[in-house]
Amino acid sequence: MPLVRYITAEGNEYEAEVPVGNTIMQGAVDNMIDGILGECGGAGACATCHCFVDTDWSDKTGEAGDSEQEMLEAIPGADERSRLSCQIEVTAELDGVVVHLPAAQF
Ligand code: FES
Repeated sequence: MPLVRYITAEGNEYEAEVPVGNTIMQGAVDNMIDGILGECGGAGACATCHCFVDTDWSDKTGEAGDSEQEMLEAIPGADERSRLSCQIEVTAELDGVVVHLPAAQF
């Protein structure tokens, strides 16, 4: 299974093996990694799964779609690395992907 690396705002790093087809949000929630809440269950409607994709990986994770982009623009502190982690599906190509977590989701 692909390995996803989650780095908190405090610099703590957590790793989780996430099945192909699951999302980066689901990987965090299933492994009880603080910093990603995923309150809407992955519907792209809550923005509590905000993360910053490491710039080394942004080519492989792709870009936010239009509705995701609208959600991201409403998040304080979001920047060009920002994604909703529920909209990033884990693939074999993402093995080792690094995402940085915001200090808070609200
Ligand atoms: S889990 Fe709600 S927007 Fe991602």
